[in-house]
Amino acid sequence: MSGRIRSEAFKQKVMSAHDAAGLVQNGWNIGFSGFTGAGYPKAFPEALAAVIDAKHAHGEELRVGVWTGASTAPELDGALARTGGISYRAPYQSDPEMRSAINAGTSYYQDIHLSHMGPQVSQGFLGKLNLAVIEATAITEDGDIIPSSSVGMNRTYIDEADAVIIEVNSWQSEDLFGMHDIYYPIGALPPNRVPIPITGAGDRIGEKVLKVDADKVVAIIETNAPDRNTPFKPLDDDSRAIAGYFLDFLGHEVKMGRMPENLLPLQSGVGNIANAVLAGLLEGPFENLTSYTEVIQDGMVDLLDSGKLTVASATAFSLSPAAAEKMNDNAAKYRDKIILRPQDVSNHPEPIRRMGVIACNGMIEADIYGNVNSTHVMGSRMQNGIGGSGDFTRNGWVSCFVTPSTAKGGAISCIVPMVNHVDHTEHDVQMLITEQGLADLRGLAPRQRAVKIIENCAHPDYKEPLLEYVKLAETKANGHHTPHDLATALGWHVRFLETGTMAQ
Ligand code: COA
Repeated sequence: MSGRIRSEAFKQKVMSAHDAAGLVQNGWNIGFSGFTGAGYPKAFPEALAAVIDAKHAHGEELRVGVWTGASTAPELDGALARTGGISYRAPYQSDPEMRSAINAGTSYYQDIHLSHMGPQVSQGFLGKLNLAVIEATAITEDGDIIPSSSVGMNRTYIDEADAVIIEVNSWQSEDLFGMHDIYYPIGALPPNRVPIPITGAGDRIGEKVLKVDADKVVAIIETNAPDRNTPFKPLDDDSRAIAGYFLDFLGHEVKMGRMPENLLPLQSGVGNIANAVLAGLLEGPFENLTSYTEVIQDGMVDLLDSGKLTVASATAFSLSPAAAEKMNDNAAKYRDKIILRPQDVSNHPEPIRRMGVIACNGMIEADIYGNVNSTHVMGSRMQNGIGGSGDFTRNGWVSCFVTPSTAKGGAISCIVPMVNHVDHTEHDVQMLITEQGLADLRGLAPRQRAVKIIENCAHPDYKEPLLEYVKLAETKANGHHTPHDLATALGWHVRFLETGTMAQ
């Protein structure tokens, strides 16, 4: 035994992942720890996949609902999706196998705001939670769980599940102890809720450990395996240009007296461009920054190392393999500067609105009126999900979306007449940034926005067709508040499907 299981009662419950997976019954819902490639159970999901395969080979049905914090890794989403054994998935994913199962229609997927997942589980909207499978760094003498590299939905799953399995992973640094802040709300649901007492990103309001009812723990599994994260793409000219526009904008806000010199707490979304924006801040003029965000990416750790960022609050790490190793070796150094909270606190509208967070997220496409699609390709195909982008966009002080102006080698314009799916409406989106420029939409009516977005953000190859569309829409709609010619607007994406390019 690794010595990480310090409770005598829990030592008796150690078993193999295979035996633990054998407890699962058809139709169960399982709440897994894990948020991005961090803190997900490493052994149980693959063991369960093997059990499912064996059952299916004998013509027996074994399908389960898979709930997590957010995306996970091939060892969880990939392994289980491959078996065809996932009946339902929530609230966010980004795994290629899982995406295929969703888009093939073999797994239902509910794409839920990450801050909503906890209350929705507690209210029973997703059904009964039969089992929670949670990765831990260690179990204390008192039987408390020291979380690992993500917190996500763990508190809620442990509290709501009928049974709990804990994977104790010796790869995770024991120095993570003290980094977590597990808030146990006095009234979790209305009408008993009380204010969340966070007024600064660095505030600690909870416990260092997760509490678990020992009687519910049916198995402990020991592992020693790394988190699996994807390396970020190297910075290119486009991502540098986008970061540059974002930094200029922040400087402008400071000059106008709308933000203090150390800005407001920063939120940075998932994806390569969002990480590049953080790299831009490293070279930028701002000091004493704070961050109230969802995931700690490489760029965030670099900012902490440089001293430009003083504290980062999130729910999980989302680090490249190299940065994850570095964090593991130096967790004691980062323990006072990083706070990992449950996702219903890291993404809660209340502290985000109170502190005035600067939200910056990636997108698939935006339309000329400022509606944003973060999730769907060509209207029907799910890419990843909305994640926390809605939590931060709707409630932030400033809400930015970033993307290169084109995708697929220039064949697709990311600025379109009408988005093929809406995740963030024109009422919430304040800033669009591409490598072409930045469109500040604050204070602008729809027809004013259209001109600004096309002129500042669209790729030169698409400016003319988009301006022509505006002219056509204004003529056909005979003015109107938000002029559209529906046949042409909807035909924009259809043209790509038919010809392989949106250009005329
Ligand atoms: N039309 C069709 N496909 C498009 C597209 C468009 N307008 N824009 C991008 N894509 C495709 C890319 O070609 C790429 O496809 P591939 O995987 O086949 O190569 C894929 O979408 C991802 O694009 P990429 O350029 O690698 O973007 P990214 O890593 O910056 O991620 C999002 C962009 C939108 C997918 C990502 O930010 C996301 O999932 N956002 C939603 C969740 C979120 O914002 N979470 C943050 C909360 S804190």
